[in-house]
Amino acid sequence: MSDLDLKEPVARQAQPDAAGAPVAPVSPVDAEALGVGKSFGETPIFSDVSFRLARGEAVALVGANGTGKSTLLRCLMGLIPVTSGSVRLLRQDVAAARTAELRALRARIGLVSQRHNLVPRLSVLSNVVQGLLGRHPGPRHWSHVVAPGASRDAAMAALRKVGLEEFALRRADRLSGGQSQRVAIARAIVGGPELLFADEPCASLDPAAGEDVMELFFRLVRDEAVTVVFTSHNIDHALKYGDRVLGLAHGRLQLDATAASLAASDLRGLYD
Ligand SMILES: Nc1ncnc2c1ncn2[C@@H]1O[C@H](COP(=O)(O)OP(=O)(O)OP(=O)(O)O)[C@@H](O)[C@H]1O
Ligand SMILES: [Mg+2]
Repeated sequence: MSDLDLKEPVARQAQPDAAGAPVAPVSPVDAEALGVGKSFGETPIFSDVSFRLARGEAVALVGANGTGKSTLLRCLMGLIPVTSGSVRLLRQDVAAARTAELRALRARIGLVSQRHNLVPRLSVLSNVVQGLLGRHPGPRHWSHVVAPGASRDAAMAALRKVGLEEFALRRADRLSGGQSQRVAIARAIVGGPELLFADEPCASLDPAAGEDVMELFFRLVRDEAVTVVFTSHNIDHALKYGDRVLGLAHGRLQLDATAASLAASDLRGLYD
């Protein structure tokens, strides 16, 4: 046996990819629910909900009114405590996190809700600056007037991304619904979140404006490889924008499948 014969397998072991051997993709898990249950008082809403979200994945959460989609999002974000099970976000156990840790964790997370929840009398720019409050708590991030230059610049950059740069100094209550929702998106992304939660991000909009907002939202999150959980009553949106679809019905997670493997008719069963 020559030296060459001996070296070859050793080199292969050290460099399995170079040798062409298939290597399992290692995708970090950004969110994980393990047996999560939630009750309000004696009323159970859902139980035993488990799933994992890989980095950069977009997951649609669907289900009929009142099945607990918003409640599950709030549990995932640590805004309300779970009744059973546990949630891990960005490799941290949410329930075990101390106040300061939870604040630091929330600063890495963005939220867009159905009603944009902008502060009506403040400027568009101030509303977006407030998206940095998780990272910079305190009065300097209440208004664009007193915000540090870097934060104002970041807010302007976020407004540019949603196409509303020229509306920066307009009062938030002088915007259309579609514009308001774009500002809410700018506010959610201004801090460069790793994880975004969107609760019916276009439910208050007409179909055309809703489609625009979804297109924009998902273009931005795909560009930045952000992990997204969104709820929607629009089955087409769930299948078009979600990589995966989770379905809540009758207090359980009844569906967890890739969007590519589903047809609209598969989701209609959740609403029976
Ligand atoms: N703070 C609360 N206290 C008591 N019950 C609550 C609370 N929040 C939500 N619920 C109840 O929990 C259930 C689930 O509500 P949730 O808002 O999560 O549903 P949803 O799936 O988001 O519905 P929708 O599609 O209408 O937005 C409902 O029956 C609701 O009344
Ligand atoms: Mg809801």
